[in-house]
Amino acid sequence: MKNEVHCLISAGPTREWLDPVRFISNPSSGKMGYALANAAKARGLKVTLVSGPVTLPCPTGVDRILVNTAFEMQEVMGQHFPASSLTIMTAAVCDQRPKVFHEQKIKKDKVSEIIELVPNPDILLSLGKHKRIDQILVGFAAETENHIAHAKIKLQQKNLDWIAVNDVSGNQAFESDDNQLTLISNHGQSIIFEKEDKISLAKKILDLVYP
Ligand code: PMT
Repeated sequence: MKNEVHCLISAGPTREWLDPVRFISNPSSGKMGYALANAAKARGLKVTLVSGPVTLPCPTGVDRILVNTAFEMQEVMGQHFPASSLTIMTAAVCDQRPKVFHEQKIKKDKVSEIIELVPNPDILLSLGKHKRIDQILVGFAAETENHIAHAKIKLQQKNLDWIAVNDVSGNQAFESDDNQLTLISNHGQSIIFEKEDKISLAKKILDLVYP
């Protein structure tokens, strides 16, 4: 359709495999990202949702692409980013992966006590490097301490327009229906949202990052 505004959203965890039956991951449920995808669709945007493995159904009218590893997510995000006016990364991408992937299931008595890890690509960092002036890029920061200071560093380092910071200690953000967020802009704006459900928060975030 002509004049459609494209919105690209990532959600959920990635899985980094050690062998065909074992992986490293995190508890992201996808709820925050899926709520944003629903809210963006309701505003008439053309939404592409790049999702790690979650149990949520695909939001109606949204183009969902399922991925598994950080490398797969990076490839799909990179493909869709140039056409996207608004990109939001809520995905909890694993920062590391096992150095070696074993093609066959490792026998119980052969599993090493130490698993060597290597860094994964930082997807948002690379999107930030390629961001055009007409694109808006939003990240999320999952923090357990010095939340605002750490989020501001990520905002700058990754060349973002906005970052939403949440506290992931305990069960406050991962998997929960509710979240408490502070949204910070690269112009020094800082908006504190009270704890509320992710569906309402998603609408409020969109109102600010894409008015
Ligand atoms: O899915 P839910 O259960 O609803 O939980 C929501 C949430 C807690 C996952 C979400 O609100 C959230 O905080 N998402 C960001 C998780 C994260 O990876 O934060 P980070 O501070 O480690 O990363 C900062 C940003 O860089 C994020 O936008 C992340 O998507 C991105 N990143 C991180 C690492 C990496 N290798 N590549 C990335 O692109």
